[in-house]
Amino acid sequence: VFFGARLIRVDGHYSQINAMYRRLIGSGRVKWYDCGTDNPYRYEGKKTYAYEIAQDLGWRVPDRVLHPAAGGMSLVKTWKGFNELRAIGWVDRLPMMTAVQAARCAPVVESWKKGLTRVAPVDKQSTIASALAAADPGLLGDQALATIRASNGAAVGVEEADIIEAVRLLGQEGLMIEPSGAVTVAAVRRGVREGTIGRDESVVCVLTGSGFKDFDRILDLVEIPQQVVSGYEGMLAEAERIG
Ligand SMILES: Cc1ncc(COP(=O)(O)O)c(C=O)c1O
Repeated sequence: VFFGARLIRVDGHYSQINAMYRRLIGSGRVKWYDCGTDNPYRYEGKKTYAYEIAQDLGWRVPDRVLHPAAGGMSLVKTWKGFNELRAIGWVDRLPMMTAVQAARCAPVVESWKKGLTRVAPVDKQSTIASALAAADPGLLGDQALATIRASNGAAVGVEEADIIEAVRLLGQEGLMIEPSGAVTVAAVRRGVREGTIGRDESVVCVLTGSGFKDFDRILDLVEIPQQVVSGYEGMLAEAERIG
């Protein structure tokens, strides 16, 4: 909006609104630039995650890539990027791909656990990882399941408290990441705790969203003092109190 977008607020959850958006674009009634899932610059663009990861690691491929998943497109396209790199011989292996969702809205995780090849919708419950709450990911969700299987990966649902802890931990590392982006850190901690991820494995956690994208959630996690002190003595007393 700050950059000039005009905003329509629509009641409904992510998957419903996405379906309506696609119908609107398909109707030809508006002449909008479609930045949704059908835009090749979007879905081909997402595979550049793989290029960046491999390049940053000196053209080595990590054992695992953990990616936050809503529809699952980023996971699917990152996998595509790694496959392309291997096809041209720039890397010699592929990572295991893990989709991470909030346990409160985790259709990919639940379908994967049941061994399904088509993703089954879930009843959405609200989650702090609101950008991931796609209760009915549809075809992309099916592709995410196929990616997980092909890569010998996994799908992990993480609890709200663990997501919040991950956001806080990342803050201590100097990274302000929105809860939806921080789920991968919650997942890797759980995986190591439960022994599903080995301590010696190389793991890349993709942190998809800046905290500025979901700033209200970040503000909920910080405490701004209401009290205003005055004068040097007041400041000193408060400084000594907080240590
Ligand atoms: C911060 C963040 N991370 C991850 C995703 C997941 O995207 P995908 O639909 O590609 O799974 C989204 C989707 O909107 C997002 O906003």
